[in-house]
Order: sequence, then structure tokens, then C-alpha cells
Amino acid sequence: MRANITLSKVGQADLEPLLIFSKKTFFDAFYHLNNPEDVEAYATKAFAEGRLAEELNDPASEFYFACINCEIVGYIKLNYGPAQTDVNDDTSVELERIYVSSFHQGKQIGQQLMEFAIQTAKDKKLKYVWLGVWEHNQKAIKFYQRHGFKIFGEHDFMLGKDKQVDKLMKLVI
Ligand SMILES: CC(C)(COP(=O)(O)OP(=O)(O)OC[C@H]1O[C@@H](n2cnc3c(N)ncnc32)[C@H](O)[C@@H]1OP(=O)(O)O)[C@@H](O)C(=O)NCCC(=O)NCCS
Repeated sequence: MRANITLSKVGQADLEPLLIFSKKTFFDAFYHLNNPEDVEAYATKAFAEGRLAEELNDPASEFYFACINCEIVGYIKLNYGPAQTDVNDDTSVELERIYVSSFHQGKQIGQQLMEFAIQTAKDKKLKYVWLGVWEHNQKAIKFYQRHGFKIFGEHDFMLGKDKQVDKLMKLVI
């Protein structure tokens, strides 16, 4: 079943719901697969109110909510050149985060968020979309491959004190 979503750009006024949703979806996805202390340490920094407020203010980053009947069911974070966590290429966009709430996964909400990210890159005449994904997140890797992404490298990602490997994947558009 394909759920119909409404996409909207996240603004400063949405800081609180963004904080709650991004933290919850991160914990739901990764808490049980990692050392709890590392997850907590990472989340304390990544989902701090001040940090997210700064990211929302950054003209080189954009967040979008996917909603069903005003309920937030997913979100993405896009980074352009200087805001990117790696690569830093002005002809690309980084899809730094794509999350759908556990209850709503498998309803093509991720697909619609992905299509939106790709369309946004096309509208901006960018050459490719890239992202980093934990090497053990097979579900997400499969999802990206289904959308045409190919692995082109890897980088380290610190989850608290745990040095993890992220596969870097790209879709040329
Ligand atoms: C990865 C993620 C964003 C995908 O979102 P989603 O809304 O579940 O994605 P979709 O529904 O578009 O597709 C998911 C799967 O459901 C399947 N699916 C989609 N619609 C379906 C339907 N009608 N019937 C059966 N299966 C369906 C798709 O085939 C797809 O399978 P795949 O894993 O082989 O690609 C989501 O699983 C998520 O938030 N995961 C946790 C966070 C995470 O890992 N994020 C990425 C960090 S890098």
C-alpha cells in the first residue's frame, strides 16, 4: 500500500518536533544493534537543541518532513557543498538522513522521500546524490541499490567511542 504523504520544508518553528522525531527514529533504528552508551553519546551531540537549530539555520542544509494528516511520518536532511560530511562537492547533494517511523515503513514513504531528493537535485542541476550508510545496515543498502545507488567508497563514522565504517553510495542523475 502506497501512503500519500505531504512534504514540507522544516523551519525554525519546527525545531521541537524535528528533535523529537529525529531522536526517536534514530533510537528505534540503531539502539538495539549497538552499545547503548555509544548510541546515547552520539545522540546527545547530534540531537542537541542548539546543534539542530544551527543546522536548520545553515543555508547549505535543508530538512523536509513527510506527513500524513499532519502527523510526521518521515524526514530527510539534504546537505549542499560546504555542509556536507564528506565529498564537499558543489555539484552534488548529500542525503545525510532519511528516516521513516517504524510503524509506517514499507508503505513507499521512503521511496517518495527519495524521489523528492533526486528531483530536488535535478531542479538544482546537480550531477549526483550521495550518502553514507552503515555497512551493517543491509535494509537501507538494499533500499538505496533499488534506487540505483552504487558504492564508491567508505569513511569512518564515530558512534560515541565506536569507530564504524559507512559505505559511501552515489546516484548519478
Ligand atoms: C530505509 C527507509 C528510509 C526506507 O523507508 P520505507 O518507507 O520503509 O521505504 P519503502 O516503503 O519505499 O521501501 C522499503 C521496502 O519496502 C518494500 N515495499 C515498498 N512498498 C511495498 C509494498 N506495497 N508491499 C511490500 N513491500 C513494499 C520495498 O520493496 C522496499 O524493499 P527494499 O528494502 O528491498 O528496498 C526506512 O526503512 C527507515 O527509516 N529505516 C530506518 C532508518 C534508516 O536505516 N535510515 C537510513 C540511514 S542511512
